[in-house]
Parts: sequence; structure tokens; C-alpha cells
Amino acid sequence: MERCNFLRLGRGRSSTVQGRTNVVNRLKLMSSKGKAIEKYKEELEFLQQQLLETSPLRAFTFEELSAATQGFKRSLVLGEGGFGEVYEGYLIDHSAASTHPENAAFKYQHVAVKRLRQGGQQGHREWLNEVSFLGRLHHPNLVWLIGYCAQLTKLKEERLLVYEFVLHGSLDNLLFQTSDFWLPMPWNRRVDVAIDAARGLAFLHDHQVSHDKLIVINRDIKPSNILVDHNFVAKLSDFGLAHTGPESDSSHVTTRVLGTLEYAAPEYIQTGQLTLQSDIWSFGIVLLELLSGRRALDRHRPRNERKLVDWARPLLYQGMINSLIDPQLGDRYSAEEAKVVLNLVQQCLHRNRKNRPTMKEIFQILSSLKEAEKKDGNVKASTSLVETPETSSRLPLLKEEDQKVEPHPRGASHFHGARSGNRR
Ligand SMILES: Nc1ncnc2c1ncn2[C@@H]1O[C@H](COP(=O)(O)OP(=O)(O)OP(=O)(O)O)[C@@H](O)[C@H]1O
Ligand SMILES: [Mg+2]
Repeated sequence: MERCNFLRLGRGRSSTVQGRTNVVNRLKLMSSKGKAIEKYKEELEFLQQQLLETSPLRAFTFEELSAATQGFKRSLVLGEGGFGEVYEGYLIDHSAASTHPENAAFKYQHVAVKRLRQGGQQGHREWLNEVSFLGRLHHPNLVWLIGYCAQLTKLKEERLLVYEFVLHGSLDNLLFQTSDFWLPMPWNRRVDVAIDAARGLAFLHDHQVSHDKLIVINRDIKPSNILVDHNFVAKLSDFGLAHTGPESDSSHVTTRVLGTLEYAAPEYIQTGQLTLQSDIWSFGIVLLELLSGRRALDRHRPRNERKLVDWARPLLYQGMINSLIDPQLGDRYSAEEAKVVLNLVQQCLHRNRKNRPTMKEIFQILSSLKEAEKKDGNVKASTSLVETPETSSRLPLLKEEDQKVEPHPRGASHFHGARSGNRR
């Protein structure tokens, strides 16, 4: 799904109007715009230099990544987004091969390589953001960014990102894949993905880096940015639009409105005020997609069902689980668990952002489902967000690793000898 840049669209329209009324003004505008772009470009180059000097990430050459992807072979394309194409690849680890010549399993590292399509400023900014955030953050529910490449080749300024290869690809692939031999995603797996994604987001929203608190708003939570690995562990990806959270005395940061329209909180679209609750809204939409098996926006449906939130809202308030639940699941789901998820969706999509729960609360409620399941084989989790003495003892706390930043696993062996699968 392509991302939208709402503000850029707005700006384009206004300059066209001005141009029609006065050609001279239009030319002046273009030249000042050109200067501004040049200045912005310089600023980005400076930021890049500063960032890369201290980045713990591995720097790759373009030739290394070209070799890893067999010259960016079309058949190795895993997907394509607003940033560019993503290729499956294998890095040859020469040092491992020389120290373990007899052990081929240590020779290759399975990776996903994202290549910036063209050198626009927005793309460069997203690339920098990804390196900046994912270079500092490491958590089991965030995708592992191994390294980057920034190199001027004969043709263009190349910018790439190298990630761990995540076997099952995105939640979007898993949830909405339709083919004759593809089974619908089982209910338990949907709940597990929701818990993992909530845990990753709770980590972003509140954690310590040394003595400082670092709050990160992802700003682009959606199924195509949630990857699912070989153990069905979900990991958040794509930090190109991420933003540090507000200072303690403020509730929001004012930014350009960026992101994917169907997942963006209404108050953010209207005011440009970005808050932690903007992510909560997006997460609520993802929960609703998991529950219903419908896309946030589906142009193939009848007009009144195209926008998932509009279609679902009356059903949510009437608690009509049977109408909301993915019909592909049949009766293979827990009605009790679905009720808890439905209740959460309602709260995440509260029109007043102040009434939305925090990510920590969401994580605790979702994971209490699993705790209850383990205890007595069925679900008796609370649907309330208010911690009563009765519920609080049952709600698991975030694990210790959720509170702090782990050292970056630079040099850790994530090598595989053979292809473990292919989902194309
Ligand atoms: N680390 C990875 N391992 C395996 N597959 C990946 C990985 N990263 C991305 N992909 C695949 O590539 C696809 C494209 O990803 P990308 O983030 O570029 O675009 P998108 O999420 O579809 O759109 P957007 O640009 O709005 O984020 C994903 O949907 C996923 O299937
Ligand atoms: Mg993406």
C-alpha cells in the first residue's frame, strides 16, 4: 500500500493557483523553492554525516548488496512500498567462511535489502530516520536493521537498508492473502501478532536509553509494516516516518502530516499534532482488521462498506461480534477473546484521543488473554481498562527487556546455511 504525503499534495495545489494568476510570481516562487530544497538537501547531508560517524550499524558497499541480490534480480523482489523495492538476498560472510571453512552454515546471512527508488528529499529523510531509530533500538518485536549503504554510483546517489530476512513477510500478506490453497490466518495467531505488535509499540512509547527517556512515535503502524518471522513472532518495521515524542511538558509535537490515510488518527490529519495516541488509533485499526479480516480501505466492497471504521463503528457499539468477525474463521475463534479485542478496538478508536488507552495497557490486556488461556484453558480476561485489584494481579507486567534498550546485536550470528523457505 502506498503511503500518502498529505501536506505535499496541499502545497502543490496552492503553488499552482499562484502560478496561474501571475507568471512572474510563479518563477520567483520556483527559484526560492529551489533554494529551499538545496538548503534542505545540505541539511540532510550534514545530518547523515553526523549520524553515520556514530552509528553502530554495518556500512555496506553498493557492490556487496548488488552481489547479495544477484544484481537486484526481479525474481528476488519481496515487495514494493513508497520507499522502493525490497529484495531477498544472501550476504556472504567471508570472515565466517575463513574461520569455519568446513561449516557452510556460517557462510550466508539471509537478508532483505530495501533500495531507495529515487533520490528525492523525502526518501533521504526516511532513510536517515530508519538508520537513526533502528540503529539505536533493539527489541525482539522490532525488525533488526543490520546495516545501510549510502554511495554515489555512476547512475545515482544510492541509499539502501539491510534487514534480517523475516520469513513470513508482512501481516498484510498473511491476513489478506487469497488463493485456493491459502488457509485463513487462525484466530490464535491473530491474537499472538496483536500481542507482539503491542509489546513492540509499548517499548517504543516508553523506555530508557541510559539515563534518558526516549519516546518514539512510529506514525506508520499498519499490517504491511508488521513482519512475522519463522516462529510467528511479529516485529514492527519501517521507522522512516517515526518521530521522537513530545517533551514532558507538552502532549504533542506539531509536524507535517505524513503517513497512510486509512490508519491516521483524525485529529492528527486535521491539526498536524502528533501524539502517542496517534499510534494507538492506528493500532486500533489493525486490531479491527485482525478481527474482521477486512482491509482498512477496500474499494472492491459496496460503497458503505469500503471504509472499515465507518462500516464497523455501529456494529462495535452494538457489540455485534458475529457481524464483525472474519467469516473465514467460521466458529474457530474464542468469543470471549473476541469480546476483549472488540472492546479494545472501541477504546483505541475513541474520537477523543485523551480517552484512548496507553500502549502498555493494551499490551497488558491482550497478553492477559494468553495468561488466562494457560491457566484454565479458556478465556476469562477482563474487558475493563481500569486496573482493579482483582485484574491488576492477573495482568502481566512488561518484561524487563521492554523497559530498557538492549545493546545492538552487531556481530551476532544470524546466519543460515540453506534457504529455509520462500513465500513468493
Ligand atoms: N525484513 C523483511 N523481511 C522479509 N520481507 C520484508 C522485509 N521488509 C519488507 N518486506 C516485504 O516487502 C514488502 C514491502 O515493504 P515496504 O515497507 O517497502 O512497503 P510497504 O510496507 O508495503 O509500504 P510502505 O512504503 O507504505 O511502508 C513488505 O510488505 C514485506 O512483504
Ligand atoms: Mg513498509
